[in-house]
This record gives sequence, structure tokens and C-alpha cells, in this order.
Amino acid sequence: MNAVAAPITPAFRPMALEDIDRVLLIERVAYPFPWTRGNFCDCLESGYSCWLAEVDGEIVGYSIFMVGAGEGHILNCCVDPHWQSRGLGRALMYRLIESASEFGAEVLFLEVRPSNSRAIELYISLGFETVGLRRHYYPAVLGREDAMVMRRVL
Ligand SMILES: CC(C)(COP(=O)(O)OP(=O)(O)OC[C@H]1O[C@@H](n2cnc3c(N)ncnc32)[C@H](O)[C@@H]1OP(=O)(O)O)[C@@H](O)C(=O)NCCC(=O)NCCS
Repeated sequence: MNAVAAPITPAFRPMALEDIDRVLLIERVAYPFPWTRGNFCDCLESGYSCWLAEVDGEIVGYSIFMVGAGEGHILNCCVDPHWQSRGLGRALMYRLIESASEFGAEVLFLEVRPSNSRAIELYISLGFETVGLRRHYYPAVLGREDAMVMRRVL
């Protein structure tokens, strides 16, 4: 019998430089081509919205987005693999959508690998639609992979 884990409601707080060590541990197990420490530092220094999801004080996921001229761009949304499929990705995205609206975004964009069916399902269920394709956008094990561009009007 397969046990289905109950959904979890995380607490949210802004990411700080001191959190990057833990964030990098998650990033490196969650992605085949992870961001570097420099990528996270740049986002914090640029004033992008960087949020952490915590469960009992443990960082279990994060999201990063920027808003400019009414457009929001989601740069990262990630849940620790040990904590996936418990509703945390959806909770991070709900929080992100709400914050982006508060920052004046009228539309949100993101890029996702066509092979990332899990993330794509989540985005479609949240009202994102595919509006374009960036050819050879991502590094891949064999060369490059395209990016689907998805959009949600807020
Ligand atoms: C994509 C990601 C953020 C989803 O986080 P999560 O906490 O596992 O997702 P949730 O539990 O909130 O589930 C949200 C939806 O994702 C999809 N999903 C989650 N687990 C899934 C699984 N095991 N198989 C297929 N789809 C799954 C479902 O559509 C699910 O909706 P449902 O709960 O109504 O069925 C997470 O898989 C992740 O961090 N992946 C690595 C980083 C990444 O690829 N980020 C996206 C970059 S564009």
C-alpha cells in the first residue's frame, strides 16, 4: 500500500545572505544544472523578491522573482526533494503570485524545461499558459534544451 503524505503548510520569510548555504544544498540536489552562490547573491543584492518556505524552522524550499514595468519574472522556484509532493511547491507559487500582485505585476512569466513535466503540471494548474519557446536555452546532458515560456495574467 502506498501512503500518501498529507499536505504541509509552510511558514514564509525573506531569504538573507546567511541562508544561502542551506539554499545551495537544496539547489544542488534539486537541479541537474544548479545555480551558483553568485547567482543567489546577485538576486539578493539586486533587491529581487527571494522567499523561503520553512517547516518547523527548516528551510524546505524557496522562490525568487523580480517585478518591473508591470511584468513579473519568476527566476527560481524549488522544493527540497525530500519535501516534494506535499503541497509546498503549490504553496510557494500561491505566495509568489500574491506578492507579485502586491508589487504591481499585471502579468507573470517563467521559463521551464519541456522535460520538467512535474513543474509544467503545477504551472498549468495555476493558470499559466505556454506563450513561446526559447531554442537551446538551457544546458543539458547532451547539448542544450529548449525553454517553454509560460505566462499568467494576474
Ligand atoms: C516543481 C516543484 C517546485 C513542485 O514542488 P512540489 O512541492 O513537489 O509540488 P506540490 O506538492 O505542491 O504539487 C504541485 C503539483 O505538482 C505536480 N506534482 C507534484 N508531485 C508530482 C509527482 N510526484 N509527479 C507528478 N506531478 C507531481 C502536480 O501537478 C501537483 O498538483 P496536485 O497536488 O494537485 O496533484 C518541485 O518538483 C521542484 O522543486 N522541482 C525541482 C526544481 C524545479 O524543477 N523547479 C521548477 C523550475 S521551472
